[in-house]
Amino acid sequence: MTEQCKTTDVPEEVRFHLDCRWEASVEDPAGRLVFELWNIGSAPVEGFRLAFTTLRFVERDPAADNAQLVDRRGYFHHVVPLGPLHLAPGEVWRFSLGGITGEPQHRGEGIASAYLTLSSGERLAVAVGDLRRQATDARLACGDAGTVPFALIPWPAEVALVPSDRLPGYLVPVDGTGADELSAVSTVTALFRRLFPIEPAPFSLMALPGDRQLRFVADPALGRECYRLDFQETEILVTATDAAGRQYALTALAQLLRGARAGDGFRFPASGHISDYPRFPWRGCHLDTARRFFAIGDLARFLDCLAYHRLNVFHWHLTDDEAWRLEIRDYPDLTATGSVRGPEAAIPPQLGDGANPGGGFYNHADVRALVGHATRLNIEIVPEIDVPGHSTAMLAALPGLVDPDELVGAYASVQGFANNALNPAIDLTWEILGAVFDDLVALFPSPYLHVGGDEVAHGAWLASPLAKKMMADLGIGDAVALQSHFMRRVQTMLAQRGRRLAGWNEVGNGDGVQPEATLLTVWQKATIGAGLVRRGYDIVMAPAEAYYLDIARSADWNEVGMSWAGVTSVEQAYAYEVGRDIPEELLPRLKGVQACIWTELIDSRSHFNHLVFPRLAAVAEAGWTPSAEKDWLRFQKLCRFCPAL
Ligand code: ACM
Repeated sequence: MTEQCKTTDVPEEVRFHLDCRWEASVEDPAGRLVFELWNIGSAPVEGFRLAFTTLRFVERDPAADNAQLVDRRGYFHHVVPLGPLHLAPGEVWRFSLGGITGEPQHRGEGIASAYLTLSSGERLAVAVGDLRRQATDARLACGDAGTVPFALIPWPAEVALVPSDRLPGYLVPVDGTGADELSAVSTVTALFRRLFPIEPAPFSLMALPGDRQLRFVADPALGRECYRLDFQETEILVTATDAAGRQYALTALAQLLRGARAGDGFRFPASGHISDYPRFPWRGCHLDTARRFFAIGDLARFLDCLAYHRLNVFHWHLTDDEAWRLEIRDYPDLTATGSVRGPEAAIPPQLGDGANPGGGFYNHADVRALVGHATRLNIEIVPEIDVPGHSTAMLAALPGLVDPDELVGAYASVQGFANNALNPAIDLTWEILGAVFDDLVALFPSPYLHVGGDEVAHGAWLASPLAKKMMADLGIGDAVALQSHFMRRVQTMLAQRGRRLAGWNEVGNGDGVQPEATLLTVWQKATIGAGLVRRGYDIVMAPAEAYYLDIARSADWNEVGMSWAGVTSVEQAYAYEVGRDIPEELLPRLKGVQACIWTELIDSRSHFNHLVFPRLAAVAEAGWTPSAEKDWLRFQKLCRFCPAL
């Protein structure tokens, strides 16, 4: 992606959170910084040093209270507790430093970054909050928020709220809140700071007058991912039973506060409640990283965008004709050759490539970091290796996979790639797929591995003597039956590794796989879904005519995007109703909805953002909100709050 001002890394696991406020008096107008270091992890810590950076560095005698400043160079500071300090999960170390260089003028002049060093030398990440000071209790201006003044997206299942004309400072957990809940607050604070870096954070762990207090309540009667918010006189009750429910509750609160801070008639609630649960368990988004390489930090940010929308599945398209992007330990050529395109490379330049070779791939450390980030945001990553079609890059990297007697140009895919199918009659095909599945299993905890299966070209294998012999030996009459046989063997290999098969809807052709153990992503036409559930498959609906976000938003000549599936305006994406043609008793097989982002034409961040947002929010609302609660007028007003990559 171009137009990038900062390359982000994948955020690390965080077990500590540092908040800071500025306090001044008539005698000391420059004031002092008061710190709170919270242990939000699950293990106690002692014998540590805290490093942090702040623009308001300590100039003279630090007049430290409950800490010793042991080093300060420029903006860098190192402090240690006075004497031994054992910080249990959920506990806080409070200290302060005086002698700072003048009065802070803005929220961002507090702690810019921090980390902890243990006596073993190990360094641990510390999340940081906004610089706080005595909050002002602001009245809100009027404006036109439309039918509802609450900036919630996707819209919750049940909303009964009374708007307030006051703006709270920050949202702060009450004293005694447990480490898991503090960690969720820190996670969502960090999420919003990453998504909206110039806006104030929604939460702080440091209470000041004017803040609203959060009290967490567990209710085992609530299901997975569900939550309830009760806005009471002195506190907001946050009820959930699992980490996802807590995250979604806090995301809703953060959205409400962001809206109220934006003004224009949007409000924070004074009283009332939200009672919320998802419509579907699978609320996904796919991204094609084969046609276009995305830096791992961009993928982490994209996961942040998914989390904002309460989407919980990232379908990661890792291979295609144009590139193979995943390191496979036993077959380094897959990425050494398969991830590079260029004039002299095995894969020629494709859409958007020029004379300079380019590419990229994800090594195992990248993947582990991204999976960790996803897990912390309650997102499951479902990796896709697209076989047996769409395999040009794989075949270019490993020529031993090609039947030497197959006529080149005997068939071509709809995208114009000749002889691009993996050959089931070659033993190496199965050896390599075994190694690929082993690495996928080692890297991805998802119960599903997606193996593509789409768009195998008409006539594939029919010019391969090896494949023809196999068909004759097995009594297989046509290419559809051979693909069915291929997928059955893949399903067995996945089952041997404890995983379930997911694939595009063509995997159901010929019914070679076991329907009850297969999840199909319906893309070609929405109407295909009903037939597949009748045949016993679980499905996720991602119909190209509504949920392919690379399709242009209008027929205007000046619009960007693909056109093979027509056009999809934001309103059309929003209006699409999933499952209407599925009989009631089969609806449990409809697992959810998914957006797909193919990237052949997407060569800039602007292009990506224009196509993806806010249509992604439309799919998210279809996945989360009961259909009776969907409201296009409300959605239109709320789209402005969507993040972008
Ligand atoms: C697809 O769009 N070929 C799944």
